[in-house]
Amino acid sequence: MKNHPFTHLLPAALGCAAAVLLAGHAHAATPANFSIHTASLALNFSVGKDGRLYQLPIGAPPPETPTARDAEVYPQAGDGYIWEPALQVVHADGNTSTDLVCDDLTRTNEAPGREVIRVHLHDPAYPFEVTICFRAHHDTDVLEQWVEIQHQEAGEITLLNMKSTSLLLSTNVYLTHFFGDWAKEMLRPITEQITPGTKVLDTKLGVRAEQFQSPSFILSLNGRATETTGEVLGGSLAWSGNSACEFDNHAEGVRALCGLNAFASAYHLKPGQTFTTPTMIWVWSDHGLGDMSRKLHAWARDFGVRDGHRPRAALLNNWEATGFDFDFNRIASLFGPAKQIGTELFLLDDGWFGNKYPRTNDAAGLGDWQPNHQRLPDGLTPLAAEAVKQGLRFGIWLEPEMVNPKSELFEQHPDWVIRQPKRELELQRHQLVLDLTRPAVQDFEWQTIHDVLSVPNVTYAKWDCNRYLTQPGSAYLPADRQSELWIDYVQALYRLMDRTATTFPDTELMLCSGGGGRADYGALRYFHEFWPSDNTDPVTRVAMQWDYSYFFPPLTLASHVTHWGNRPMHFACTVAMSARFGMDLDLPHLPATDQAVCAGAIAAYKQIRDVTLPGDLYRLEDPHDQYRGAINFVAPDQARAVVFVFQLQDGPQTAVRPQGLAPAKRYTLHELNPAPGRPAIPQEGHTLTGEELMRDGVIPSCSRAIEASAIELRAEQ
Ligand code: GLA
Repeated sequence: MKNHPFTHLLPAALGCAAAVLLAGHAHAATPANFSIHTASLALNFSVGKDGRLYQLPIGAPPPETPTARDAEVYPQAGDGYIWEPALQVVHADGNTSTDLVCDDLTRTNEAPGREVIRVHLHDPAYPFEVTICFRAHHDTDVLEQWVEIQHQEAGEITLLNMKSTSLLLSTNVYLTHFFGDWAKEMLRPITEQITPGTKVLDTKLGVRAEQFQSPSFILSLNGRATETTGEVLGGSLAWSGNSACEFDNHAEGVRALCGLNAFASAYHLKPGQTFTTPTMIWVWSDHGLGDMSRKLHAWARDFGVRDGHRPRAALLNNWEATGFDFDFNRIASLFGPAKQIGTELFLLDDGWFGNKYPRTNDAAGLGDWQPNHQRLPDGLTPLAAEAVKQGLRFGIWLEPEMVNPKSELFEQHPDWVIRQPKRELELQRHQLVLDLTRPAVQDFEWQTIHDVLSVPNVTYAKWDCNRYLTQPGSAYLPADRQSELWIDYVQALYRLMDRTATTFPDTELMLCSGGGGRADYGALRYFHEFWPSDNTDPVTRVAMQWDYSYFFPPLTLASHVTHWGNRPMHFACTVAMSARFGMDLDLPHLPATDQAVCAGAIAAYKQIRDVTLPGDLYRLEDPHDQYRGAINFVAPDQARAVVFVFQLQDGPQTAVRPQGLAPAKRYTLHELNPAPGRPAIPQEGHTLTGEELMRDGVIPSCSRAIEASAIELRAEQ
């Protein structure tokens, strides 16, 4: 990425209000032109003669003619701008147009290499202000962007559209996006050139909002990118509700407008109140997709997820083993075998609650969070204590936002659910969503979470959300405020999540939504990891985890060994080892040979998690439509690395070339948890330099379909 000079942009108007205010360790820029820099990205802005703020398109040469309205930053509807606007407002007097001129900007150094830039704009005809905010992370090339809106008009204004970002790019842009479904989340990346017109990625599901459309995508500028080449801008909207990312290709370039979905979402703002949009996360690389994700992962470990540097425990979950059919003894019978093979944490899934309507299947009991007397006669406390006695931590499943009509909660509070008046209730998985905008529901959900997480020895929880909104009506919100439900719900949800994380700082949380329906950095701030999909077929997971890894570090991807697909245990374990390792197995009934494979995998996972969790990920061979996939991790000090090869079909046993090693270091090769009955890697115990390994590669032990190989490279001290 070149830093383009500003010489071709509009000269600043004399007397224009663009001045740079000093704040904290702020430093001055020229009044009319300013830039926001990270290590390899520069966003260049100028203030025009008309006082408006313009942006030089990223990836484009400087324009030969002066910039026109098309290049305006954060374009406003109603007074001359003809394309998709970033902002559309109805002012207190009914005027549907807005004009923004630039006042000033402040720069604040929050920490070395981390700067917040706030650009202030206002409407000359109204006491209406917009602040465009950036947090620039220098070393990782990550830009967080959000917008704050406030006013002092005579009455409420109505926000009809208020995006978080509207970056302008060059015209030759390729978009990679991900559209999926339950059990097929993120599975198939689609890459297409953005042709003239508007391409929209949107979701209107309210909660579990990302079941079909992910709010994360990649833009490649000036041609298609590869893992190691190309100018790429990754984008991820930190919002768990309705979102829209619009790519508007018009005369001046492609504009990426991302943020809240304007669909049926008119939002009223009182004088003196501030509306803050969700944060958009941008990450830049001019060295392709691999470099882009490594930088985003580094940012995520520090800022995007909770405890991003804490090792993740090896976990056993009972869902696939028992489903809803268990009692104290059945669950306790899993603890001994789990401990024996090295498991560190047990997660009790759905089915432990409900008495009048026991939760023996998914049709009843949701909302009645009292332990079931038959299954757990003395409640959760003795079960958690038993787990700890047998050497495991204990975790629990919760779905606090939902209710089955067949529940005491619904009998007592039928008005607490989100529904439309005069319409027949539409159930999904036999359940409804509680209306979190209602204070009594907020109290109820908080009390539920508080009570469960306060059970002694509960140190982990899975927060699920198994349906989306189809009848978005609230009996609590006034008739003329129904359109605010979409936004108010998510804001209330974040308050609940924040309170949970703050009150239980040592309790680890898994984010789940009927699989990967909530994989976004809005919720992940409060969570340690997420459940990418109910599809745990390891063959599917190879490609799915590859795709998620464009945006999320592997330590956040819960990857459980199950019987989905009936794959060899060794393959399933090796796939899980490459992310955050877990199992969903009926261990006491598992053949001894499979138990031994699992034990070996857990030992290997513990040995390498200080490489795979904080390390750099290199995607080497793309598993989509190929006979195998391969990745490698490199520890921050490059002293250790791990290569994973996943063979999906029969094919040649050729070398896999790792990346990111220290060329001069000498690494000794060792296959981790080799598959029983298969010869180990031909280079077992060999020592080679990083340069040789990156040039000649590592020969895996796998050569047939559904075989895998994990090879540790350990540098000589
Ligand atoms: C969802 C989750 C599963 C499991 C069930 C329990 O489908 O994705 O992992 O927790 O709910 O009902």
